[in-house]
Parts: sequence; structure tokens; C-alpha cells
Amino acid sequence: MDKKVILITGASTGIGRACADRLHWSGWTVVGASRRGTTSDSWQGLSMDVDNDASVEQGVADIIAEHGRIDAVLANAGWGVAGAAEATPIADAKAQVETIFWGAVRIVNAVLPSMRHQGGGRILLTSSIGGLIGIPFQAFYSAGKFALEGYAESMAYEVEPFGVHVTLIEPGNFKTDFTASRRMIPSSVDDPYRVASEKAIRTMERDERNGANPSDVAKVVERLLNSAKPPRRLMVGKRNERVGAVAKRLMPFRLFEKSARKSLGL
Ligand SMILES: NC(=O)c1ccc[n+]([C@@H]2O[C@H](COP(=O)([O-])OP(=O)(O)OC[C@H]3O[C@@H](n4cnc5c(N)ncnc54)[C@H](OP(=O)(O)O)[C@@H]3O)[C@@H](O)[C@H]2O)c1
Repeated sequence: MDKKVILITGASTGIGRACADRLHWSGWTVVGASRRGTTSDSWQGLSMDVDNDASVEQGVADIIAEHGRIDAVLANAGWGVAGAAEATPIADAKAQVETIFWGAVRIVNAVLPSMRHQGGGRILLTSSIGGLIGIPFQAFYSAGKFALEGYAESMAYEVEPFGVHVTLIEPGNFKTDFTASRRMIPSSVDDPYRVASEKAIRTMERDERNGANPSDVAKVVERLLNSAKPPRRLMVGKRNERVGAVAKRLMPFRLFEKSARKSLGL
């Protein structure tokens, strides 16, 4: 039987790379995309910028021309911007959403026609616990991931009749290049947010550096791809992070905010 084909974006490092490696070893034909186009001994690399319509359309067309189909996609490419919402230039905020929201939308739109034509497929989208809980001083990262959550939930109704299943993966803190790649909005000495933002960002960076291993996400992704009835959403990460997201749903919101402030030293 022919091997199934998966496209993973953001495969040069971190979560995407761990997923590409694991799925290759479990028998998938993996095409791993990123701007730098990293390849590996085991899976095929592809240069693709998810911010760019032509780059995504061409990349997906090339995969279909070579392999004949795309059975699954993991739209995972991303980076983060940090700083006070008020101090973040609109251009930086838009750039953030361009990659983590519109980048995923471009990928989905590019693969859907062939998935519908072949009678099914799997769409996995890397969201974040930051797509469930607003993260202070990462407002536009949270905004982009919240948008992804709403988009995927809505779009899933539309594509399910064609046999296409959609799952949002919601990681907590993972040790990847994400922390080093974060774009920081510079703050000045008289910035009224400086003390709070430095404190909160320091705490979040510490949690990321002590985060879980991205191979945990890869295990979850493999399980989802093998599942006949994948869930719409799946959180993956340390227990306290998953409990935090559930607490937001269950607790009075003011109480939840109070404990979030305390944990970030705000
Ligand atoms: N690490 C965490 O704690 C964490 C938690 C929750 C969610 N996430 C999400 O997980 C996903 C992967 O992040 P990671 O932690 O694995 O970070 P990472 O190690 O920095 O990997 C990010 C990947 O995205 C690619 N990328 C960035 N912008 C791109 C673009 N415009 N077009 C194509 N590829 C692009 C990067 O490659 P190039 O630079 O070569 O393009 C890289 O392969 C992101 O969506 C992130 O929001 C991460």
C-alpha cells in the first residue's frame, strides 16, 4: 500500500521537526516546510513562507505533482511577538497574525481541494494554551491563536461532510527555538509598562526554557492521525498548564485573573 503523505509547516525546528521525525519513522511520507527549507536524511524539506500566497500555492502544487495526494497537514509554522499591547506597532501586530492565523488559513485553503477530491483528509492546526487564555504582554500572539480557534471550530462543520477532520492542538510550554526567536518590542526607561512587562516576559521565558520536550507533541500528533474519531481540540503539556486552561472555564473569571496575575508576578 502507498505510504500516506503529510505536509508539516514549521518543520525546521521545535515541535514541527519532532513531528516530522516521528511520523517519518512510523511510516508516513513527510514533507517538512519552513522558510529556510531545512531537509533531513529521512524526510523531504521544502522552502515555503506561509505569509506568502504564491509560496504556499506553489509548495502544495509541487507536493501533489510529486506524490499525487496530501492525506494530512499540520499547520504549525509560527513565532511570537512580546511587549505591551499599547506599545506594539500595528505593523508588528499584523505580522504576528499574518503568520500564525493567515498562514494556517493559506495552508488549509491550498490543501482542501485535493482532500475533498480524494474523499477525505486530516487537518491539524497548532494552536496554543495561549489561544484559550489571554497572555499578558503577548496580546497579539493570543489574538492570532484565539482567531485560529474560532476559524477551525467554524470551518470544521463545513469540511466534515467531505471526510475532512479538523483538530486544534493546544500546547503548553515546550522547549524549542520559539523563545530565542521571539520578537521583543523595545521598551524605554519611561515606559509605564516596563517593570510589569519585563517581569511577566521573564517568567514566561523561564517556563518555556523549562518546558516539556516537543517529542510529547509528536506522540500526540501520531495518535490523532491514527484515531478514527479525532477530537476537535487537544491540550498537550504539563499538568498544571492543562489544569490552568480548565480552571478558566470553571472558575469565576475575576478569581481566575487574580491567580494568573499572581503566577506572573503582576
Ligand atoms: N514552544 C512553545 O512553548 C509553544 C507553545 C504553544 C504553541 N506553540 C506553537 O507551536 C508552533 C511551533 O513553534 P515551536 O515552539 O516549535 O517554535 P520554533 O522551534 O521556533 O519553530 C517555529 C517553526 O516555524 C517556522 N516558521 C516561522 N515563520 C514561518 C513562516 N512565515 N513560514 C514558514 N515557516 C515559518 C520556523 O522555520 P523558519 O524560521 O525556517 O521559517 C520553524 O520551523 C508555533 O505555531 C507556536 O505558536 C509553541
